[in-house]
Amino acid sequence: MDDTQLRSGTCELPTVEDTIALGARLGAQLRCGDVVVLSGPLGAGKTALTKGIAVGMDVEGPVTSPTFVLARVHRARRPDRPALVHVDVYRLLEHTGSDLLAELDSLDLDTDLDDAVVVVEWGEGLAERLAERHLDITVQRRPDSDARTATWQWSQG
Ligand SMILES: Nc1ncnc2c1ncn2[C@@H]1O[C@H](COP(=O)(O)OP(=O)(O)OP(=O)(O)O)[C@@H](O)[C@H]1O
Ligand SMILES: [Mg+2]
Repeated sequence: MDDTQLRSGTCELPTVEDTIALGARLGAQLRCGDVVVLSGPLGAGKTALTKGIAVGMDVEGPVTSPTFVLARVHRARRPDRPALVHVDVYRLLEHTGSDLLAELDSLDLDTDLDDAVVVVEWGEGLAERLAERHLDITVQRRPDSDARTATWQWSQG
């Protein structure tokens, strides 16, 4: 069994290509209504991982940093597959500091969140506030190399 199918795991990521590949493996398993919370410092590779998730989900690209928009919708290339909603939570929660999914709903994203996978960057501390099932991924970096370590865990529920 592919270890990304486990409830939790950890992975060494020597290069950005490895990070994208991990995202693709995780992304291939995501279903409508799933929420992914990405934590880790500036430049850790959260957007790189999201690029991989987009590959695994087979949605339209390109995935870029959502810093200057609140959320970006990437449509599925295949019919009846979930869209990817990519969110920069710091920007979003500037407005309310409250419930993420309710706030996203209020943006009129032109996609039904029940039919999408929501990927949130900078979700530290947010995971605890999400009631529904979600996948938490933390990316860590070292000062002396390009290598990253990713740890992922599905919440209960
Ligand atoms: N092993 C690696 N995994 C991921 N990215 C890597 C790796 N090695 C080098 N990089 C580089 O590190 C950078 C990661 O940037 P990225 O935008 O994905 O980070 P981020 O966590 O989204 O940052 P931000 O907090 O600004 O949103 C990219 O330029 C990427 O090429
Ligand atoms: Mg980013």
